[in-house]
Amino acid sequence: MLCKDFSLRFEMTDVTQKRCFVLFVIKMSQTTCPPKLLQIQNLKSKIPMSDLHTITATVNGKSYTRTIESRMLLSDFIRHELGLTGTHVGCEYGVCGACTILYDNHPTRSCLTLAVQANGHRLETVEGLAVSPTQLHPLQQAFHEAHGLQCGYCTPGILMTMKAFLAENPHPSEAEVREALSGNLCRCTGYQHIVDAVLNVKDEG
Ligand code: FES
Ligand code: FES
Repeated sequence: MLCKDFSLRFEMTDVTQKRCFVLFVIKMSQTTCPPKLLQIQNLKSKIPMSDLHTITATVNGKSYTRTIESRMLLSDFIRHELGLTGTHVGCEYGVCGACTILYDNHPTRSCLTLAVQANGHRLETVEGLAVSPTQLHPLQQAFHEAHGLQCGYCTPGILMTMKAFLAENPHPSEAEVREALSGNLCRCTGYQHIVDAVLNVKDEG
């Protein structure tokens, strides 16, 4: 096997393989990364004005106005433009449900929605769920009490999905809860505690 980095060609032994990898990483960090980062930083200023749109959206009761690229995803808008990183991104193609937010009260995959589509609309993310800085939303409290989260990565999407679900169906059966949860994947796979938590909210109601 040959290493072609830095135009050097030599036989790959364990030692040369490691050295080649280290040289490659150094080269990447010294030459490739900075121009690319610079390119990203300068990207916004080079976007034609026709590709930029100024939008205003209400997020968790607060109005935000931003000028954004037409192709920006809503998940990126929420996380990077607004800094609301409670909305997580998993698969980025609509399967896992981690990025679910409420869009005019409807659970919506923010990774499949363009940010420009939020113009004039009302969004809710997990940051807006708590009743006050010292009081959790009943769903959050139930998740806490029933150990409904493990690593927590899927939890914001599940909470937003369940909020809309319980608003429509305040007294669901276990089967209905499981069906409503079927669009949200938990990689820690602790679904029983999640179902228990949602049913506990029902019991409180
Ligand atoms: S990140 Fe949006 S559905 Fe997975
Ligand atoms: S709690 Fe870890 S992914 Fe669901």
